[in-house]
Amino acid sequence: MEIDLSGRSFLKLLDYTPEEIRYLLDLSKEFKRLKHSRTPHEYLKGKQIVLLFEKTSTRTRCSFEVAGRDLGMGVTYLDPGSSQMGKKESLEDTARVLGRMYDGIEYRGFDQSIVEELSAKAGVPVWNGLTTQFHPTQMLADIMTAEENLGDMKGKTLVFMGDARNNVANSLMVVCSKLGINYTACGPKELMPEEELVHTCLEIAKESGSKITLTDDVMEGTKGAHVIYTDIWLSMGEPDDIWAQRIGLLQDYRVTKEVMKNADEKAIFLHCLPSFHDTNTTIGAEIAEKFGVKEMEVEDDVFESAQSKVFDEAENRMHTIKAVMYATLKNV
Ligand code: CP
Ligand code: NVA
Repeated sequence: MEIDLSGRSFLKLLDYTPEEIRYLLDLSKEFKRLKHSRTPHEYLKGKQIVLLFEKTSTRTRCSFEVAGRDLGMGVTYLDPGSSQMGKKESLEDTARVLGRMYDGIEYRGFDQSIVEELSAKAGVPVWNGLTTQFHPTQMLADIMTAEENLGDMKGKTLVFMGDARNNVANSLMVVCSKLGINYTACGPKELMPEEELVHTCLEIAKESGSKITLTDDVMEGTKGAHVIYTDIWLSMGEPDDIWAQRIGLLQDYRVTKEVMKNADEKAIFLHCLPSFHDTNTTIGAEIAEKFGVKEMEVEDDVFESAQSKVFDEAENRMHTIKAVMYATLKNV
């Protein structure tokens, strides 16, 4: 059956079938090939997109900008301070205005309900560039990178270590359950995913054959794993005054050389980035001074090791975002 995603929004992977996700991954590989061979692909010439960011970004913003331009589109970027949205104009009105001018809208911000409402009101495809609950475009880059290194991921195991109820971890559980990849959330009991989402993923996993495990035991959780994944311990939008509590909860869940040794011998390390793997950032330095913690979610040695594929993963954000925009805008 031919897959046609024209006119669809991309808000969370729960809305997409395994076949549709597969289609987007294959399209991403094709766009990577075109980019690397310097083959022009301005397939969406004349279209216009707007990027709405209520939280900061490097990878997601640049991926949308470069991918948009490679496809021949005009791109407008609105940062958290420079639009009327929320302050002087309701979300509903903003969506209806932007939908009149643009062919597609990217949104990064807070509650998932915001991006869902934007999509319901805008009349054009809306793409989720990260909300408090989900980060779906990140997932395509992650699975693409895993496949580039490990081949077919079906039946293999991805372990997320750390804050297992954040947007990235939630989305990994969803994408793994859809694609038949075993998923382990490895973290403290206090930071496990919400029961309702676990239940939903377990139901999906029954179809795909994926195994979902929640554990607070690092050695048991990471034994023989094929992908070890982590993310920062405090996500954007969470208050700074919980750093001490978060460090206390998560310091045993750092990705160390021992963890990587405990995983499969061909295991790779992934991280959505940005990462606190040293003290070369303002926050990293502050945390080191206040709490004496110099490497947070991952040891620098692991981050810099040959097993670490984080920069391939970052590059793949651009190819996968391009695939999402092309697939949803090509026939509209
Ligand atoms: N991984 C990711 O979304 O990075 P940015 O916050 O830089 O966009
Ligand atoms: N969980 C992180 C992901 C950043 C890409 C955050 O929301 O800040």
